[in-house]
Amino acid sequence: MASTAHSRPSASRVDDDFVGVIYGDVGSTAFRCSVVGSVERHEFVQVRHDTCGTVLGRVEEVERKTDLSLERAQHVGDGEPVEVEEKVSAQVSVVGYRDDRGLLQFPRTPFRAGEPVKRADVHTIRKVLGLEEDKKHGAYIGLLAGHDVPVYLDINTMVQKHVSIIAKTGGGKSYAAGVLIEELMKHHVTTVILDPHGEYASLSERGKVAHGAERFRVEPRSYPDAIQVYSPDTKVNSGAKPLKFTLSNLDARDILSLTGSAKVRTHLTALRKALDLLRQATKAYTIRDIVRVLEREEDPQNATLIDDLEYLSEVEIFAQEGTRIDELVVKGKTTIINLKGVPPDIQELVVNRLATAMFELRKVGKIPPLMVVVEEAHNFCPQVGQVASSKIFRTLASEGRKFGLGLVIITQRAAKVDKNVLSQCNTQVILKVTNPNDLKAIVASVEGLTTAMAEEIQRLPIGVAIVTGGGVQMPLLVEIRPRETKHGGESVKVIED
Ligand SMILES: Nc1ncnc2c1ncn2[C@@H]1O[C@H](COP(=O)(O)OP(=O)(O)O)[C@@H](O)[C@H]1O
Ligand SMILES: [Mg+2]
Repeated sequence: MASTAHSRPSASRVDDDFVGVIYGDVGSTAFRCSVVGSVERHEFVQVRHDTCGTVLGRVEEVERKTDLSLERAQHVGDGEPVEVEEKVSAQVSVVGYRDDRGLLQFPRTPFRAGEPVKRADVHTIRKVLGLEEDKKHGAYIGLLAGHDVPVYLDINTMVQKHVSIIAKTGGGKSYAAGVLIEELMKHHVTTVILDPHGEYASLSERGKVAHGAERFRVEPRSYPDAIQVYSPDTKVNSGAKPLKFTLSNLDARDILSLTGSAKVRTHLTALRKALDLLRQATKAYTIRDIVRVLEREEDPQNATLIDDLEYLSEVEIFAQEGTRIDELVVKGKTTIINLKGVPPDIQELVVNRLATAMFELRKVGKIPPLMVVVEEAHNFCPQVGQVASSKIFRTLASEGRKFGLGLVIITQRAAKVDKNVLSQCNTQVILKVTNPNDLKAIVASVEGLTTAMAEEIQRLPIGVAIVTGGGVQMPLLVEIRPRETKHGGESVKVIED
């Protein structure tokens, strides 16, 4: 193999960070550079500009140009010795620089050919990308891919402007959500996790030392004191405290919202009347009692209402003394609502009731500001069709921020989540996605996502995310840090290793 054609400028001869030299026709937003050192796609480089000083760039593509023709390649195939001359070059796009006032700027004149290009130093990356190490307000989610630069997401921004975590199944959503929740626990942020598969209780267990963990400076630890688990089904989830609702605390409208009835207006009066009657007699009435009163009316209009109520009475989510929301939402604690084993429609009812109650109590300041994590969000706020919890999630997405109630929306089907909800998520953690409709939905909802980055989403390795928002100025590739706690979402293997 022949060596590359150019000689390195003497000043950089001993410099490991030297990448190469700008050549060819040079622009102010992009340029090509020869590559003598090693550099990979997406790495950050820096180069001097006549008037702007040090400017940050990103390697978009690395190419190996060779003089091996098709004809000579066939000779190689025949086992003949063939000399190949090759030159590596990189396409770099300009990210910008910070001016005197600290604002992100782009040069308006081209760079000079012959200018040395170096791997960007930590200081320049931090400054230009605005990646300050803010341990007090920031959630450490991982390292900037290819660099030893930790990425922190601003927790206040996340609560105020919501978060989405998107990946295909097995793409690392729950793992990344676990990382984020660990950071929320570390910062004593009040959190409620709506957990349909019972994956998150393992947050209270210490994890193992992950492969390559030193690089991330992460040590296994657990958060047993920060976590409480509630479940409507304590037979399946024996470690959990029971989650029950007090029937006598619910008015007619609440009960109708629990049934997910589409005909609230039709049934409201009848149900109110039935409740008034019962309340004159006792506080300890049951759903069956309500049904009995309604049946006595013999009004055919009540038939669907009676059906809905009978279904509710079978699922045993009511108790004489239900769970208080202010017991569930405790300042600085993380509460897992384990819905494992609960039928999907009942999950929607429970989630609807909880989300509604949390929003109402948050509005009047009876519970602390909090983050609500929603796994399998496409089931609770679908784009097509209406489920019991559809409406409250729209309300939370658009109004939650005013009251300090942030959402973390987790889904494998971006296209199937209500766009009104997804579009309100300002911080996005996007892992590997391959479904074209989901990619479209992501591109539509992420500001500043370049076509090249959108392409990249399909090729992301497990554990690498494109992260935007949360105080981060442009979409960045981030290697999600290892977990401190045990990851609970492992897929079940048919054949053991
Ligand atoms: N950042 C990461 N570092 C190391 N392993 C990861 C990472 N993210 C995901 N994994 C691995 O990939 C598997 C699937 O991730 P998971 O988060 O459960 O996927 P899903 O998107 O379906 O929720 C995990 O069990 C874990 O072993
Ligand atoms: Mg998962």
